[in-house]
Amino acid sequence: MTQITRPRIYMQEVATRDGFQNEAQFIETEDKVLVIDALSQCGFAKIEVTSFTSPKAIPALRDAERVMHEITRQPGVEYTVLVPNVRGAERALSCGIDEANLVMSMSETHNRSNLRMTREQSFTQLEQVVSAISGSAVAINISLSTTFGCPMEGDVSEDEVMRWVERFANLGVKRATLCDTTGMAYPSQVRSIATRAKTLFPDMVFTLHFHNTRSMAQANVLAAISAGINRFDASLGGIGGCPYAPGASGNACTEDMVHMLELEGFDTQIDLDRLLKVSAMLPGLIGHDVPSQLLKAGARNTLHPAPAYAADIGKPV
Ligand code: COA
Ligand code: ZN
Repeated sequence: MTQITRPRIYMQEVATRDGFQNEAQFIETEDKVLVIDALSQCGFAKIEVTSFTSPKAIPALRDAERVMHEITRQPGVEYTVLVPNVRGAERALSCGIDEANLVMSMSETHNRSNLRMTREQSFTQLEQVVSAISGSAVAINISLSTTFGCPMEGDVSEDEVMRWVERFANLGVKRATLCDTTGMAYPSQVRSIATRAKTLFPDMVFTLHFHNTRSMAQANVLAAISAGINRFDASLGGIGGCPYAPGASGNACTEDMVHMLELEGFDTQIDLDRLLKVSAMLPGLIGHDVPSQLLKAGARNTLHPAPAYAADIGKPV
């Protein structure tokens, strides 16, 4: 009998970074560790644990060192952290990370708002980070925020995005994430940018990172897959958003995405039942409901008892 292999999709969980960074209420370190340890058992290729940004800019993640030291790492899962500058890289390296996820924006205005630097200043900082890390066992990923549009400047040209990918590729960076920071991406745009990126940079490992601000995340994922992308960031419960982007709301929801991808014949390696149990912990931890649809509705094959009267319908009275 021939074995049918399902195409592999690599799922990368970002809730404890992109999600928790945005919560007004501080989530206790031990609760963060509990969530990350539970996520480590769910089958993710990568988990973005936290970020080494300024604690003044992102107070919600001011416990980054403690979190990194206290989690129990699962073999086979890569543990990555967000790094905006040289100071962040020094802090991250002291915690034995697997990957540093560097970040800058494709829009000048968003870069200035979010990182308080021009894009050139960011690039100079990140160039220093790359040279400090290169040659070590730590991998480097560059996340390019606002690739699909900026809430302050509008569309960013594809040429501009490719120019920055090329600058990082020239530094020897081999992984890049195209981020739809505020949910402006739409499927035909995603297909166009992803196809161009993969054609121009065949050796670069690309991730796509969507937000569901305008309910297009799931459609964008399918569009990206049709362009040959097989790695996605997603956030448990669909929590998340950039505190420096007006109107930003939740990330693409992990459980909704996994549910769709498995139905569509892809192999995500995610244990959905286990994942939903972790997602169910979130409202209690963050103090409010989460956008996840699956958490409300259950998987499509979750059957419900019929109402008692249904059995009697059509019977002679
Ligand atoms: N970790 C800890 N502290 C840091 C730091 C880092 N990575 N980078 C800077 N700092 C500290 C400095 O030591 C300084 O502290 P002090 O006021 O006690 O002397 C202070 O922050 C200001 O430093 P400066 O170099 O002037 O940075 P900045 O104020 O221009 O901020 C960033 C630059 C990038 C650090 C800051 O804007 C930031 O962290 N932004 C968050 C971006 C983010 O994560 N957005 C959401 C996800 S995309
Ligand atoms: Zn994001």
